[in-house]
Amino acid sequence: MKEYKFPENFWWGAATSGPQSEGFHNKAHKNIMDYWYETSKEEFFGGVGPFTASNFYETYKEDIRLLKEVGMNSFRTSIQWTRLIKDLYTGEIDKEGKKFYDNVIDEFLKAGIEPVINLYHFDMPIELQQQYDGWCSREVVDLFVKYAQIAFDLFGDRVKYWAVFNEPMVVPEAGYMYGFHYPNRIGEGEKAVQIMYHQVLTTAKTIEVFRNSKVGKNGGEICTILNLTPAYPATESKDDKEASEFVDDFFNNVFVETAINGEFPKKLVEVLEKDGVLWKSEVGDAQLIRKNTVDFLGVNYYHPKRVKARTDKLPQELQKQWMPDIYFEEYDWSEKRINPYRGWEIYPKAMYDIAISMRDKYPNTPWFISENGMGVEGEEQYIDKDGKINDDYRIDFYKEHLQWLHKAMEEGSNCFGYHAWTGYDCWSWNNAYKNRYGFIAVDLETQKRTIKKSGYWYKQVSENNGF
Ligand code: NOJ
Repeated sequence: MKEYKFPENFWWGAATSGPQSEGFHNKAHKNIMDYWYETSKEEFFGGVGPFTASNFYETYKEDIRLLKEVGMNSFRTSIQWTRLIKDLYTGEIDKEGKKFYDNVIDEFLKAGIEPVINLYHFDMPIELQQQYDGWCSREVVDLFVKYAQIAFDLFGDRVKYWAVFNEPMVVPEAGYMYGFHYPNRIGEGEKAVQIMYHQVLTTAKTIEVFRNSKVGKNGGEICTILNLTPAYPATESKDDKEASEFVDDFFNNVFVETAINGEFPKKLVEVLEKDGVLWKSEVGDAQLIRKNTVDFLGVNYYHPKRVKARTDKLPQELQKQWMPDIYFEEYDWSEKRINPYRGWEIYPKAMYDIAISMRDKYPNTPWFISENGMGVEGEEQYIDKDGKINDDYRIDFYKEHLQWLHKAMEEGSNCFGYHAWTGYDCWSWNNAYKNRYGFIAVDLETQKRTIKKSGYWYKQVSENNGF
């Protein structure tokens, strides 16, 4: 059997986020997810919300010890803006919040795990959402940059690797176009376009502040983390091909191109201009975006998008404002392998396609897989009579994705690490704990942790630097 060896010092780790793991524990502010849960508990699977999550706030020492035990040499989590900053306008620090993140970072370092710290994981403070409609406003851009600067100053002496955003596209897509994340708006494509722009601008402004900070000057590195959903045309027809190119620009390239090259995809700008919905910008923005690009890129990959050109009209409810109405995505479930436990298509080869496209389009940018994983509903049923969790399906899933990644790396793709989603089971937005993703199970009643079979497997992979 072929052996898959990875380069020396390869990152073997996993990712989570503050809002999905910590639990509320006296945060200075609520974020939009806290607020949404508080006001509509019934929308969340099992009624479980971010208030409790996996209680990492209290169990971080044990959790970090277990992460080490399953072989992690690096790990990403996020700081919650709503925990670190007491006064969102002046930037006054919350002492308890600071202490917590100090402790967590120190604990990671003690365990020999490289912390990667992300600054935004869908967690807009509710006050800023209500006052400014969140990322629709430029005011929020500057308030965020202030918070980022504080985080660099407080933790940059110990944290070398930073991320500005996790999956920025989810904010406009889920929050304003298709209504499955707070503020649950549907059909507000024009706002979505403005939000995309403000997030791009925020990325550049944050990177500028980073470059001028101590950590930026002393070898620190900064990235942004993008969910790349490769867009494949559903058929070979010209219309489907064009539709998938548009989808690729709108959902992926707008963030990749600006993060790496500091330029927006030309074709996308043309379409938005023609439709009269191009974002509002200010003099000087373009130069700032061009100048402040990432040191490396994080890529989250779960499933591709299969794209068909639209032949009918967009449903009425999707037409509050301009929407990308000529195209829509269609999954031909019958012909694809579907994750039977979750409903997302499983298509490991996209890992290779992404890696090769990174090599060809951005040869000078090091990158890593910052999320990839398999959510499984009802994982309890895989526990055997000795209480062991035999999640062989997860091991197979990881192996297949890693094999495709490995192939692309052999062919020259500059990938330096792999982070699974996730270490210990954590809370997932509307689905709460319905789909478990972790190497380590979390019992929600007792908060007891149990390493799954995949966790022991990952430890070996990390120790052997391959499998
Ligand atoms: C991507 C997101 O970053 C994370 O928050 C989410 O829980 C996972 N995907 C799994 O759906």
